[in-house]
Amino acid sequence: MFNTVSDLDSGQRLLVRIDINAPVENGHAQDNRRFERHAESIRTLLEDGHAVAVMAHQGRPGRDTFISLESHADILGDHLSQDVEFVPDTFGEDALEATEALESGEVLLLENVRMCEDELPEKEPETHAGSEFVQTLAPKFDAYVNDAYSAAHRAHASLVGFPLVMDAYAGPVMEAEYTANSAIQDREFEGPVTMVLGGTKAEDLIPVIERVDDTVDRFCLGGIVGELFLRAAGHDVGYDVEETEFFDHQWDDHANTIESILETYGDRLTLAADLAYEGDDGERAETAVEGLEKDTSYLDVGTESAETYADLVRESDAVFVKGALGVFEDERFATGTVTVLEAIAETDCFSVVGGGDTSRAIGMYGLDEDDFGHVSIAGGAYVRALTGEPLVGIDVLETAAAA
Ligand code: 3PG
Repeated sequence: MFNTVSDLDSGQRLLVRIDINAPVENGHAQDNRRFERHAESIRTLLEDGHAVAVMAHQGRPGRDTFISLESHADILGDHLSQDVEFVPDTFGEDALEATEALESGEVLLLENVRMCEDELPEKEPETHAGSEFVQTLAPKFDAYVNDAYSAAHRAHASLVGFPLVMDAYAGPVMEAEYTANSAIQDREFEGPVTMVLGGTKAEDLIPVIERVDDTVDRFCLGGIVGELFLRAAGHDVGYDVEETEFFDHQWDDHANTIESILETYGDRLTLAADLAYEGDDGERAETAVEGLEKDTSYLDVGTESAETYADLVRESDAVFVKGALGVFEDERFATGTVTVLEAIAETDCFSVVGGGDTSRAIGMYGLDEDDFGHVSIAGGAYVRALTGEPLVGIDVLETAAAA
């Protein structure tokens, strides 16, 4: 097990990794549950008299969502009702000067760690621990806190390097998510277990379906991952996957995996029977998958598919959701996501809703968080934990605690 912040003496200088990776509109981060949960963690640390320097990432290099954390500092400050100083630097002179000036009860946000060369790509913790980034920042702090459960599946410097060179603790979000998601692995369900997978991070979900054993009886697919399976099943989905950023040019590998999943687990997969798109009049329009056209952008599963998925949810003993079935931020394309969430909320099944953005739909559409077993702010990390795959960011905290 790892050490937690309750093991810390008060009044320390802390380097805290959180995950406020958020949707971006017009170059600005959009508020979501991640800010709220991490603000609660930071508030607890400030109340204990700590000085808190925060590290976080946003987007991936080369993508539109890869932006500075300046707007994140404002959102975090609103949740904390106190100023969050932002410094557009990670471990250079400006960052070091700002961290040195930091006093007890104050919080500072460093620039997007993915703008610093040492952060990426995935490497062994020992290699990251020796990087200039880790070696420069670590001596400036008394301890490192990792609260970023939702990024704990990434072997990046800010997540795995620091615990090897300084005292390391799990933050409150990390601890709560770890406890909830580990408990799921130990549970046995009598009735069917259903996994609803959607969203944009198909590359995280394809291996999950491939790895899953008998614990999941059926998958309901939407979002990009749903389109990819429809396409592999011979439908003309209007999504030119080879040309997108999603697969880091490894599309052929994913295509082969999808083919083999269809062969092996085909009977467990429920694909959409219809999809929705924006009609010429700007209204929601729908078509059966037999009528899909390559040049159309499909933005939600259709009403018939949403009802089918909701029926499967109602018959289930446990439901795990990762990723939205459509672009729910636009009310016209929220039908799939909201119909499934409502079905979960109405039934007594055990449920977990995960995905940084998906959990936002619960608040947006007036659903009550208490009607869900656990609402996770994690996406890829949570589905990996469900399939029993270790999370490297947690492993290093455990190794550090045992040393
Ligand atoms: C997430 O949003 O799931 C985490 O922040 C990880 O982001 P990544 O998939 O870009 O590594």
